[in-house]
Amino acid sequence: MQLQKQHSLSLPLPGTNCWTDRCKITFLFVSQHCRLLFLSMDFRFNFFPDEDESKEPSADNETQPCSPTQQDERQPERKGCIKAAKEHRVPEDISEVLRNKVLETASGLHYVNMAVVEMTCRDGSHEEDIVSKSVSSHSDLIPGVYEGGMKIWECTYDLMDFLAEAEIRFNNKTVLDLGCGAGLLGIVALKGDAAEVHFQDYNSTVIEEITMPNVVANCINDGNKDSKEDGKNIKPPSKRRKESEPLPDELSKCRFFSGGWAEVSQLLSSSSKPCIKYDLILTSETIYNPDYYGALHDTLAQLLAKDGRVYLASKVHYFGVGGGTYLFEKFLEERKVFRSSTVKEVEEGLKRFVLEIAFQDST
Ligand SMILES: C[S@@+](CC[C@H](N)C(=O)[O-])C[C@H]1O[C@@H](n2cnc3c(N)ncnc32)[C@H](O)[C@@H]1O
Repeated sequence: MQLQKQHSLSLPLPGTNCWTDRCKITFLFVSQHCRLLFLSMDFRFNFFPDEDESKEPSADNETQPCSPTQQDERQPERKGCIKAAKEHRVPEDISEVLRNKVLETASGLHYVNMAVVEMTCRDGSHEEDIVSKSVSSHSDLIPGVYEGGMKIWECTYDLMDFLAEAEIRFNNKTVLDLGCGAGLLGIVALKGDAAEVHFQDYNSTVIEEITMPNVVANCINDGNKDSKEDGKNIKPPSKRRKESEPLPDELSKCRFFSGGWAEVSQLLSSSSKPCIKYDLILTSETIYNPDYYGALHDTLAQLLAKDGRVYLASKVHYFGVGGGTYLFEKFLEERKVFRSSTVKEVEEGLKRFVLEIAFQDST
């Protein structure tokens, strides 16, 4: 992973705003400790792909093969030990979810500044310790350990563009943001009046520190339906929610899961009768590793409603990891469960696609 920017900011008082060239930052609460870290840290994650195309998620030189020593260390996690599934409940006090977070806004969506999350996650409070592992291995992907959810990968924006261009309707639909990372796709569905939106990421740290805060930030600021301009009217939670108060409507439609695909699929299937099925599954940059194709395929087959649709955004090829659009399409063809078609192509830089996937016998 590359160092990209060195930011040196003096932080304003909590609740005040400041602007960067692309977005507004709202300071909720950042401790003195955090402030010192913030001044001294390097930003490794690239929020906006056009800031540095060449280093974006192609995983070209980012997912280096492990050295023998590293492999030995990671053997248990890489081979037999895909993470167990876990459901993460929204805390009673939702202001907790946004504690120590710095919010940014773009295209009408709010999301936490990941560099700040990175700093605060290096205190050993998360057993996964993915930030330190990612830093020490200089990689955004460590198979079976950290699967890349702490940054927003560029195909997310392709898929968001497609959903808007094709006027995909979410109202009354049950939606899964699979391999969600920041969860922007699920948040778009939520704002489109989906009946339920579920979020899955491999890493529990990502769900707790990024996905859930992003969803909460967008739900509590949802009163601003008229504020579509970047950075306008974002409101940090001003008060602690009383335990008797219900969750904001949109938030009560959401569930959050971490763990491997097969494991989460099993948890979902066994925890609700009849088994939950999704009308729409949205997934971006999740087919980089061919080793996971079987689990991904079976999860889609298990969780997609009979006439549902998967929208999958991907690069043509992930150098260094081996997966990519054509390879996954071939895999689908061989399994003979799904049909797929290309619904969007992006030519700039490394070629990217959005695929629509449906059961072969669906309408
Ligand atoms: C490269 S990240 C993409 C994150 C996000 N969709 C985006 O586009 O910004 C890949 C995501 O796929 C998920 N993922 C990859 N392999 C997985 C596996 N074997 N089981 C469960 N989730 C996996 C991880 O949660 C990770 O966040």
